[in-house]
Amino acid sequence: WWGQVEMGPPDAILGVTEAFKKDSNPNKMNLGVGAYRDDSGKPFVLQCVRKAEQLIADAALDKEYSPIVGNAEFCKASAKLAFGDNSSVINEGLISTVQALSGTGALRVGAAFLDKFHGSKEVYLPKPSWGNHTPIFKHAGMNVNAYRYYDTQTYGLDEAGCFEDISNIPEGSVIVLHACAHNPTGVDPKPEQWKEMSKIIKERKLLPFIDMAYQGFASGDVDRDSFAVRHFVEEGHNLVLSQSYSKNMGLYGERVGALTFVCSTPDEAKRVESQVKIVIRPMYSNPPINGARLAATILTNAELRQQWLVEVKEMADRIITMREQLVANLRKEGSTHNWQHITDQIGMFCFTGLKQQQVEKLTKDFSVFLTKDGRISIAGVSSKNVAYLGHAIHEVTK
Ligand code: LMR
Repeated sequence: WWGQVEMGPPDAILGVTEAFKKDSNPNKMNLGVGAYRDDSGKPFVLQCVRKAEQLIADAALDKEYSPIVGNAEFCKASAKLAFGDNSSVINEGLISTVQALSGTGALRVGAAFLDKFHGSKEVYLPKPSWGNHTPIFKHAGMNVNAYRYYDTQTYGLDEAGCFEDISNIPEGSVIVLHACAHNPTGVDPKPEQWKEMSKIIKERKLLPFIDMAYQGFASGDVDRDSFAVRHFVEEGHNLVLSQSYSKNMGLYGERVGALTFVCSTPDEAKRVESQVKIVIRPMYSNPPINGARLAATILTNAELRQQWLVEVKEMADRIITMREQLVANLRKEGSTHNWQHITDQIGMFCFTGLKQQQVEKLTKDFSVFLTKDGRISIAGVSSKNVAYLGHAIHEVTK
């Protein structure tokens, strides 16, 4: 039956891990997927997660189906984490939050809802954007377009190009924004630039779909990292928000996330939620229970929450230290390039500026695995391999 099926290409990000696993070089480095490692290069389970696991095990809870919208306590706590404890849209009942299969699942359900109910099918992504954004929206039936974002000359935000392109997006379209720690570039707008973007987006009557996959991971402070989300809400935008706990709680494989619609009235929020349930039910019926219990326990237990905030900051700080050490090692190697963007960019990723040929050489000659666009996950760098990486990058860029 499937004789005509052609071999598909490996995934641009997860395929890098598959290639990495096959390499036998003892010095190999996986800087492809954004997954945090501790300073000995090991996957890291947060202490607050271990404690929450214990509390949940001790409670000997049942394994009944979750409601279609997921764990109510988790949804409430997620909205508060994003919008703030005293958020008016929460207090006035203007939001609908459902549990989702991490950020990807939130985006996919949100996109399916928009395909069904939003007037326009046009979605605008920053250029570049996370590799999975395009297939997610296309898979849901939306048309994907781009607006200028990253400046390849300065390795920073192309402010003029970005504002100009957004000003020309047709009314009613959806615009995707990365709340913080832009993936793949590590370049975030400054507060003043966010304010300007909010103004233009409002003038153009666009619907912001904000993807927040790294709250806490950019600055180490969850409130600071939600500046854009909170500003847009204060400015009165109705919006869609996807949240992921993969990175900031290290719950990758648990698939924990949330999808929120900020609506105009409480009644609208209820109607939207009723339809989101109808979108979810044939896709996966209802979400898994374990991860949401973990996240809800951490967010609502004062002691665990405090510990979590400390641990998020530790992860963010280790990444910042690795950025500094990488630049120091490149200088030590004698590299004359200006590597300042490595420390200027924030979050898990650095957009190195390496060309595809240099990327290929890095992988072939040094077993350093990264995505083709030159993005490296700084989370995969440690004090033990940073000198090796500095040497390898110098060798392919000199
Ligand atoms: C990444 O960009 O590496 C992460 O968001 C993981 C993923 O699913 O692609």
